[in-house]
Amino acid sequence: MVVSLVLKVKPQPHPATKLRPQLLKPLVFFSKYRYLCFPPTPRPPSAVIGAGIGGSSAAHFLRQQFGEGVKIDVYESKAVGGHFATANISGQEYEIGATTIHPLNLHTKEFVRMLGLKERKHPDNLLAVYDGEEFVFEESDWFIVNIIKLIWRYGFDILRMKMWVESYLHRFMKVYQYQTHGYSFTSLEKLLHEVGGDEFVQMTKHSIDEALQQIGISQRFMNEMVTPIMRLNYGQSVNINAFVGMTSLLAAESDLWTVDGGNKLICAGLLYSAKVNLIKGKVTSVNTKKRPLRNGEVITAYEVNYTAGPDTGYNMYDIVIVATPLHQGVSKITFQDLSQPIRTDCGQYQQKVVTLVEGRLNASYFGHRGPGRFRTTAIVTMEHSSTSILAANVLGPVTMAADYQIPPPTATCVWKVLSREPLAEQQLSRLFVSRSAMRETRWMAYPRYSPPEKVPPFLLHDRIYYLNAIEWAASTVEMIAVAAKNAALLSYHRWFQQLDRIDQDYLQQRLKVEL
Ligand SMILES: Cc1cc2nc3c(=O)[nH]c(=O)nc-3n(C[C@H](O)[C@H](O)[C@H](O)COP(=O)(O)OP(=O)(O)OC[C@H]3O[C@@H](n4cnc5c(N)ncnc54)[C@H](O)[C@@H]3O)c2cc1C
Ligand SMILES: *[C@@H]1O[C@H](CO)[C@@H](O)[C@H](O)[C@H]1NC(C)=O
Ligand SMILES: *[C@@H]1O[C@H](CO)[C@@H](O)[C@H](O)[C@H]1NC(C)=O
Ligand SMILES: *[C@@H]1O[C@H](CO)[C@@H](O)[C@H](O)[C@H]1NC(C)=O
Repeated sequence: MVVSLVLKVKPQPHPATKLRPQLLKPLVFFSKYRYLCFPPTPRPPSAVIGAGIGGSSAAHFLRQQFGEGVKIDVYESKAVGGHFATANISGQEYEIGATTIHPLNLHTKEFVRMLGLKERKHPDNLLAVYDGEEFVFEESDWFIVNIIKLIWRYGFDILRMKMWVESYLHRFMKVYQYQTHGYSFTSLEKLLHEVGGDEFVQMTKHSIDEALQQIGISQRFMNEMVTPIMRLNYGQSVNINAFVGMTSLLAAESDLWTVDGGNKLICAGLLYSAKVNLIKGKVTSVNTKKRPLRNGEVITAYEVNYTAGPDTGYNMYDIVIVATPLHQGVSKITFQDLSQPIRTDCGQYQQKVVTLVEGRLNASYFGHRGPGRFRTTAIVTMEHSSTSILAANVLGPVTMAADYQIPPPTATCVWKVLSREPLAEQQLSRLFVSRSAMRETRWMAYPRYSPPEKVPPFLLHDRIYYLNAIEWAASTVEMIAVAAKNAALLSYHRWFQQLDRIDQDYLQQRLKVEL
């Protein structure tokens, strides 16, 4: 409250007054008072490395937090959007990276609203589960038939699982309340603990398999439903940690949406509205440089070196936000002359290959005799199925007419096929009866989960913040946005030494009292 009042009454000094100190006398009271609120300088120049959803939302939240005057440079070596990307097939664009967003992903929803973009419901696919020889479960057009089929085969496992997932989701929503009140955390563990207590922290330490067995989910449901969903979303089995497993089950719900025109519009929009300076270059190193102040104090600044084609350059910053994974040379950034060494190499990232194929699927490959009754538009696969594909589904373009309907799977349509390794020509020619166009993308996608996860901190050094640590709990667009908001709050409170907004306990009780 005090801060905002002072901000309102503080007159903007006229540029000319800077040169004539005697004119400042009447303002001394104000500037002294101001200093109580702004110890170092209100405008720390900041660098954001990466312009995926992490970097662009971090830039947006930094602008929100520090205001108009602060300089924000965003470095991007490839294309704005990162994992939000599209490819062009026969004159239309298709999502080839992160595609679906959950209706309760509040930060992402707010970006879309603020930028005037349009949410589009992700078309409902008809799902089938492939065991290597045939479909063990096949959805039909009829909701009620699906429910009966599910209960027939799995009892009430589906309900039990849904209730489990939703109870965690509702508890996780507290994070938005804390962030709205300005609270921030220096590590993932502290964030998870404040949101969901020991139970949430433990979720990164055991597998989704153990968690679901504890609530009595049958082995059959694990093999035929849960495992295929994990393979679809994270290319792994039920050995992944329970937190990312829970998130992955959420991504199997209905009511998912994407951005009309392409998800990457969010990133471009955020960078534009935050008025950042976008530097098309690859950051090679971040080094500390000591800078003496006039009062004798020495402060550290960060020198960010980058290459842009044949050229190299560098700039100095007070705050650096790393918004790209630092594992296995994914980003190839070195940190030099830091007082404490930075350790982020505690695990590995895994590859995911997305192959878009325009063509007709070979229904007999999936054990269907004639193509006549083949209605499936989304296929997930069981763990020991001989096929090398993780999943496949029919995909609509990023802009579609209002009356767009997914084409019947036996017609020519665009399929998105997921695999760990690139598909060989021989595999593709068995999978499709005919093909007219193809685009392959190899992503260094997300962590290879292996609980208990070893998670790097959000705070890498005095004023270097790291978003992608949160991917070790779960790699999703919204989790990265939560980490971006956290980093903006954390950097702000640390800069102005507002320690009562960092790593606080009992927030739930405290907020009740404040309200
Ligand atoms: C195939 C696939 C599908 C997915 N589907 C979903 C989904 O449906 N829903 C969902 O919520 N999540 C999904 N995810 C996960 C989601 O994409 C990620 O969690 C999220 O996009 C990560 O965002 P980011 O900004 O941290 O990283 P990125 O999107 O990887 O952005 C990092 C950026 O930094 C740039 N960069 C790297 N190094 C440097 C450097 N040295 N200098 C300058 N720039 C650099 C890169 O070029 C890149 O643009 C999916 C992931 C993949 C791979
Ligand atoms: C896709 O590529 C074709 C040519 O290959 C081009 O004419 C078209 O404009 C592109 N579409 C989009 C949406 O970029
Ligand atoms: C960064 O760039 C500056 C200026 O070109 C140079 O002096 C310095 O050695 C570079 N640092 C590294 C680690 O490359
Ligand atoms: C379709 O798949 C079946 C079963 O794998 C295979 O025998 C057949 O050759 C495939 N058809 C084509 C046209 O490749």
